[in-house]
Amino acid sequence: MKKIVLASTFAVSVLLANPSSYEQTANKVAKELLKTLGGNLKKHLKANGPVDALRFCSTNAYNLTQKVSDKFGKEIDVKRISLKPRNPANTPNSEEAAILRKMEDTYKKSQKASSIIVEKNDKTIVYKPLVIKKKACIICHGDLSKRPKLAQAIKDIYPTDKATGYKMGDLRGAIVVTIKKGK
Ligand code: HEC
Repeated sequence: MKKIVLASTFAVSVLLANPSSYEQTANKVAKELLKTLGGNLKKHLKANGPVDALRFCSTNAYNLTQKVSDKFGKEIDVKRISLKPRNPANTPNSEEAAILRKMEDTYKKSQKASSIIVEKNDKTIVYKPLVIKKKACIICHGDLSKRPKLAQAIKDIYPTDKATGYKMGDLRGAIVVTIKKGK
């Protein structure tokens, strides 16, 4: 995967000494997160359908993400962000939003979703794109006009939900892996 190293915009230090090792760590963490969330999601979709799976995600996705983060120790933090968040806790701050917009821009131009790596003081932050590649994602993040029950359940739990209307291939957001350096 192509990567972009952002060096100037955010009061960032010199270029990475060894970007590949940070990226490898980030890949490992992101993979574990996707496995954890995806496995649970699939299980609940299959067993009891989308409304049950939605309830499961709403009560557990955030905590499961925290658990994966904890598993890798306190030097590593992982979270998900989106410009159109469902859970307000996944709203990016202004710097993260700028990076997501840049990621989207590059994706639109090149049709390739690329990771963005930011060096910041004592941290390396790897932004990994999350593109909608599975039809299952569309159930809860696509056009919900034909699923009124699910749409209502989403509205009840997330009154400010923005995470619908996505199509296959759309950039949904990013997994952000923060790695403290010198550890
Ligand atoms: C059963 C419904 C459901 C399905 C299917 C689903 N999601 Fe979600 N998604 C949710 C819910 C609920 C949240 C909010 C979770 C939370 O509270 O942290 C969410 C949150 C997210 C977020 C975090 C940002 C935000 O908007 O809060 C991303 C990224 C995301 N989903 C991507 C995906 C992708 C990619 C797929 C397909 C693999 C997918 N989702 C499938 C229900 C679903």
